[in-house]
Amino acid sequence: MGKITIAIDGYSSTGKSTIAKKLANALNYIYVDTGAMYRAVTLHALNNNYLGSEEDIPSLIADLPKIDLNFVPNPALEMSEMFLNGKNVEREIRAMEVSRHVSKVATIPEVRHKLVEMQQQMGMDKGLVMDGRDIGTVVFPDAELKIYMTASPKARATRRYKELLDRGEIVSYEEVLENVQKRDFIDSTREVSPLRKADDAIEFDNSDMGLEEQFERVYASAKRVI
Ligand code: C5P
Repeated sequence: MGKITIAIDGYSSTGKSTIAKKLANALNYIYVDTGAMYRAVTLHALNNNYLGSEEDIPSLIADLPKIDLNFVPNPALEMSEMFLNGKNVEREIRAMEVSRHVSKVATIPEVRHKLVEMQQQMGMDKGLVMDGRDIGTVVFPDAELKIYMTASPKARATRRYKELLDRGEIVSYEEVLENVQKRDFIDSTREVSPLRKADDAIEFDNSDMGLEEQFERVYASAKRVI
């Protein structure tokens, strides 16, 4: 078989992006982090005061055509960074303030419509690993390989907490755990394309699995299909 499409879905902080990136590198595929796209739209909304006490979702929807999102490769970091209207926002979109609002923004049908369309365009030529919540169910229901990653909320909050501390953010573990659980709840109960395992996805619970073991398993699954 030639190049295929690999969809990786799952709850927040299951380590999807780490595995997806490593897999894309090993296969010489493109990696697309769709969470970064929802985060960038959320950042735009925050920057324009469309979220918070005086919420203005209609203005966010009206802005969608002029929200320009781009993944720009950074060879030094061996990864792509998210640019929002020409500005590198890779760091800003990972902040806790964005995490607090992103799942709400991701429930807006117009936002999902725009981003899903962009994601489908990126995958036209296959040869990509895309991670998110609805990749195997909505974006690429015909993907040749679908992985569904899970881990206990505690394991996920611990990873996320460490990540934020490493980046110098001042947060408490409890706040991170609460955010992870809240996002899981919103993501899996929303009306439009909720997070769920596609019937033909392979499930990995990596609560007690190291990175190498996870990668070996996912890589072996990919090699069986390619
Ligand atoms: O993957 P990450 O945790 O960065 O995603 C941030 C949020 O974006 C998720 O909690 C979810 O609300 C939303 N998202 C989504 N669909 C995707 C990717 C992310 O709804 N495909």
